[in-house]
Amino acid sequence: MSNTFESAGPVSSPENHRVAIRNTANRYGVVAVFLHWLVAIVVVGLFILGAWMTDLTYYDEWYRSAPDIHKSIGILLFITLVIRMSWRIVNVRPDHEPGIGTLQRQVAEAVHWLLYLLLFALMISGYLISTADGKPIEVFGVLSVPATISDIPNMEDVAGKVHWYLALVIISLASLHAIAALKHHFFDRDRTLTRMLGIRTHRD
Ligand code: HEM
Repeated sequence: MSNTFESAGPVSSPENHRVAIRNTANRYGVVAVFLHWLVAIVVVGLFILGAWMTDLTYYDEWYRSAPDIHKSIGILLFITLVIRMSWRIVNVRPDHEPGIGTLQRQVAEAVHWLLYLLLFALMISGYLISTADGKPIEVFGVLSVPATISDIPNMEDVAGKVHWYLALVIISLASLHAIAALKHHFFDRDRTLTRMLGIRTHRD
């Protein structure tokens, strides 16, 4: 069935100026672009919030609310990632830009899958820290996520360490991933970054 929002023709074609909801063979659609940047901003934001809140003391006014906000946004991020993965599965993945070699394609694919995998592991470890005492996670007071496993010895400490190291690995990997995207833009001068920003340039 043809989708009136989609186009894959040359940039001069009026068809090509329409906003594509879904991905096409050579572009990301707006949903994939929106979800990518939403997840990227939230992951970095949660990392900063998480690192900051672990230094708070009992008498600080954010001592209880900062972890509550961190957990609530973490659960919403989990839901967003499930939606993002589902959207990726039901959509075509745009081909890599011409000129990108096989090894580079394979490394990029591996990094993307690793990021998804590590993000899920990060959220599971966060859930295990928060529910180690058997209490549910209250998401902004509107959704309650029940505890499941809570009787493992030292669960909070072990899950806490795993959570912290996973966060460090993800931020490092995402930084390398961002540097690779900038290299494509400024050195290789291809469309890898602009199509993930949803913008069209003379390179299209
Ligand atoms: C925590 C931050 C980030 C995470 C978790 C993340 C994750 C991902 C993932 C999983 C993909 C694969 C998309 C797909 O399913 O096809 C992707 C693609 C991409 N990301 Fe990120 N990203 C992050 C930050 C950034 C930043 C800061 C930039 C740019 C400076 C960037 C640029 C790109 C580009 C250009 C692509 C498309 C790559 C291609 O078409 O092969 N990302 N990102």
